Amino acid sequence: MTGVEFDETAFAGPEHLDPAYVAGYDRKAAFDPADDVAVLRSHGLDNDSTVIDFGAGTGTFALAVAPYCGRVIAVDVSPAMLSALRAKAASTGAVNIAPVQAGFLSYAHDGGPVEAVYSRNALHHLPDLWKAIAPRRMERWIDATSTDRSEIGWTRAELETHVRDEHSTFTWLLEPMLVQAGFEIVKAVYAPLGAYAEYTCVRS
Ligand SMILES: C[S@@+](CC[C@H](N)C(=O)[O-])C[C@H]1O[C@@H](n2cnc3c(N)ncnc32)[C@H](O)[C@@H]1O
Repeated sequence: MTGVEFDETAFAGPEHLDPAYVAGYDRKAAFDPADDVAVLRSHGLDNDSTVIDFGAGTGTFALAVAPYCGRVIAVDVSPAMLSALRAKAASTGAVNIAPVQAGFLSYAHDGGPVEAVYSRNALHHLPDLWKAIAPRRMERWIDATSTDRSEIGWTRAELETHVRDEHSTFTWLLEPMLVQAGFEIVKAVYAPLGAYAEYTCVRS
């Protein structure tokens, strides 16, 4: 994990990391994934396809889609969820499900092409900036703007802290917020790399 990365486990929801909660999860949060499987099949999912399920939980969808595809990669940050998923896969004899302890951001795919990516009730664990996969752009911005000396600018560690622990957002979210708050944006200056903007606003 580099300094800029979001700590996905810390925001996974404490209950999802708790084996006692996970033990009762299927009873509490049962759902029928049949329609979701049907949609993927109608879009060409077949026995050669690879599917990734992000935030797979106890594997309800992974188990349902497994008979209709070549491989399911079930990604979740929670060891307790993955352990429940493994037990269910073993009890049904599904051999094409690969549980991976990782998150939306930290998962590194090194297999062949992926035909379908599925996620249910999990993306909300990421703040907006991270939902839209900003890290790569942020890394470029930090590489280009950081200095070695804190007294004459911002070091890599300082910029990483800013991205990770503070609340930057996108221009297309911030600008409507300014307008909603009663301002007219009379000037906007966007820095190269798309990671910084300056606004001059007047109260409208
Ligand atoms: C509400 S449960 C949903 C589980 C399953 N998809 C379902 O619909 O029943 C959310 C799941 O997302 C996982 N999760 C939370 N943050 C995550 C992240 N950043 N990356 C991957 N999984 C995450 C949790 O551990 C949990 O298993």
